[in-house]
Amino acid sequence: MKVTGIVASPRRIGNSDILVKETLKGLQEQGLEVSILRLRDFRIKYCNGCEKCVVQENPRCPIKDDVKFIYEQIMQSDGLVLGSPIYIHGIPGILKTLIDRIRPYVSKGESIEKKFSGFLFTHTFNSEFEYAYALPYLLFFSFYLNFQVSGILSVPSGSPGECLIDVENIRKVRVLSEKLFRNIIDPAGPVTDFQEKQETTGQETIICPGCHNLTFSMKQGKIICPVCKEEGILTGDSVDWQKKSQFSNLKETMNSRFQMIMESHLAFKTNFRTIIGAREEFKDKNIGIPIVGKDKPE
Ligand SMILES: Cc1cc2nc3c(=O)[nH]c(=O)nc-3n(C[C@H](O)[C@H](O)[C@H](O)COP(=O)(O)O)c2cc1C
Repeated sequence: MKVTGIVASPRRIGNSDILVKETLKGLQEQGLEVSILRLRDFRIKYCNGCEKCVVQENPRCPIKDDVKFIYEQIMQSDGLVLGSPIYIHGIPGILKTLIDRIRPYVSKGESIEKKFSGFLFTHTFNSEFEYAYALPYLLFFSFYLNFQVSGILSVPSGSPGECLIDVENIRKVRVLSEKLFRNIIDPAGPVTDFQEKQETTGQETIICPGCHNLTFSMKQGKIICPVCKEEGILTGDSVDWQKKSQFSNLKETMNSRFQMIMESHLAFKTNFRTIIGAREEFKDKNIGIPIVGKDKPE
């Protein structure tokens, strides 16, 4: 069984790099095949929005770079370890760029609940809210590629290698490694109890029991997880959740999202002439607004 570790930090021997390696060491010691992939070593170009990955008979991405190779590595893995620093409360641009290019590889939900991932976040400030906005991206990334989440660990550490000062961090990483191992070798077994106390503060924080997300929307008296659509009712300090599984809403969500994309393309086709005519007015040469940094008008 294979596990791929992905490091989203540009730093050599930085905190994410060290923690991903330590997680992989734990899995390797248990007999799993492991490898590490550092995003900084690859060419990852921006998505150009052409949508050839969704609207064609044979969906494909026309951009030539290393993204296909990276996804093939991921798809051939039974487990995934993702280590990312927090950059301005979110994920680094290189990781977002990779995630934007996910569409040709998005699962239709066929082999759901067989693969597992673990996330490691590193950040200077000691609070779980430091990674709250980054987490949904990794959850979506993981779910879209069919990986259930075994565990999430955040290690407050700012300078390169600072995570090694406290040996407790290594112990926590080994716990994550163990959780991943157990899920990978026994996919039908129980998945992590997501109601664990936050490691960073030791305080009780409301966490989505479906996917471990920390940021919520409120609608008609309900608290809703924007990632897995788990719903609950806020009662005093706690939430009475419906408690669905990580994937229970996923297939439905994927289908309805795909449906929406198709409807949007159909609307474009149906109204093609009108749209093309109306767009004319907005061409650079017609709009009468100087375009900064552009050499020739469309
Ligand atoms: C551009 C940039 C933005 C950052 N933004 C945050 C932030 O919003 N919150 C935080 O706690 N740390 C922030 N940091 C600190 C890094 O998360 C921290 O140095 C981390 O240890 C980097 O992990 P690495 O060694 O794996 O690269 C930022 C660092 C950089 C370079």
